[in-house]
Amino acid sequence: MLNQAALVLAAISDGQRADLALKDYFEGRRHGSWRERREIAGAVFAYFRWWQWLDRKASRQRQLAEALALRDRFASDENAMKAETLAARAVPGWLSQEMDLPAEYLRQLQRDPALWLRARPGTRLKLAASLGDCEAGDRAPDALRYRGDRDLFQTAPFKAGAFEIQDLASQIVGITCAPKPGETWWDACAGEGGKMLHLADLMGNKGLVWATDRNLRRLETLKRRAARARLFNFRAAAWEGGASLPNKVKFDGVLVDAPCSGVGTWQRNPHARWTTTERDVRELAGVQGALLGNVCGSVKPGGRLIYSVCTLTRSETTAVAGAFASAHPEFEPVSQDFLWPQELDGNGMFIAAWRRHG
Ligand SMILES: C[S@@+](CC[C@H](N)C(=O)[O-])C[C@H]1O[C@@H](n2cnc3c(N)ncnc32)[C@H](O)[C@@H]1O
Repeated sequence: MLNQAALVLAAISDGQRADLALKDYFEGRRHGSWRERREIAGAVFAYFRWWQWLDRKASRQRQLAEALALRDRFASDENAMKAETLAARAVPGWLSQEMDLPAEYLRQLQRDPALWLRARPGTRLKLAASLGDCEAGDRAPDALRYRGDRDLFQTAPFKAGAFEIQDLASQIVGITCAPKPGETWWDACAGEGGKMLHLADLMGNKGLVWATDRNLRRLETLKRRAARARLFNFRAAAWEGGASLPNKVKFDGVLVDAPCSGVGTWQRNPHARWTTTERDVRELAGVQGALLGNVCGSVKPGGRLIYSVCTLTRSETTAVAGAFASAHPEFEPVSQDFLWPQELDGNGMFIAAWRRHG
């Protein structure tokens, strides 16, 4: 297993993202059980979680073995690791300029992440009974934490569209939007549709969600997922994010689930801790502000604008929301929330909501 994980690390050191390198590796070798794949992925992620503790002169196999040993030692006595050590080694130095680093947050980053499912509205108990190994999450009505070791993509409920794999923090974005059946919404950065599918589902397949993204490949995935879920109340269209809008509709609600540094996903995706820079944060904050400014005229009077980012940096959260609020007094603040990984056992997320004056 360590040899296989070392091969994946070689692809990553050639510039690939860890999750994509794993996907390519598994697709190239169709053999191997789900359990073996999970072990390989676990070793690769442990390597990046404990990266600053490893002896970089040792072979990749030795470093992987050391990372797994560190993971197990940490799991057996988390408090033995000092918070100062974690602050110095678990995250890059620049992060402390951008956010507070409470000890419990740093500990959470070093744990294996939880796997969350979103059941179709109102079907959580039925799904839990059919999958087994599930626990209900109390922060979202359809959320289930899966603790089993089955390949969920191969299960009959998944193939029938009975659930999506969606992090708890992302589910809370949909709940904050709270679209009603028959309304018209715009998911401006819809990507592969994680949140769009949730909105369309909360609307009971009635009304319409415009789903736009600059990346057409992602929109194709969104359409396939919607077909599996038998959701038809959406329309997908390309939009580059600029001032020229893809439609002239005035919406009941607009969601800007903006591109961001992804700091809130660093527990699940520890490789990104070492590839994301302060410059990314600054540049993305500019993109986020521009996206909000471009879409806000499409919110109808009395309608809502929701801004979400899976990051916790000040530049991309309160600074973007504050600048938007100062430039747009026609929007009244409704809520502003930080979701912390250690409180949720999920991704970190920032969500701001405004209502346009009627
Ligand atoms: C955080 S992801 C969206 C995730 C998606 N909402 C979901 O829940 O699965 C941000 C998306 O914004 C898109 N994007 C990046 N830059 C953009 C821009 N300038 N204008 C519009 N979309 C952009 C990316 O292609 C990406 O799909």
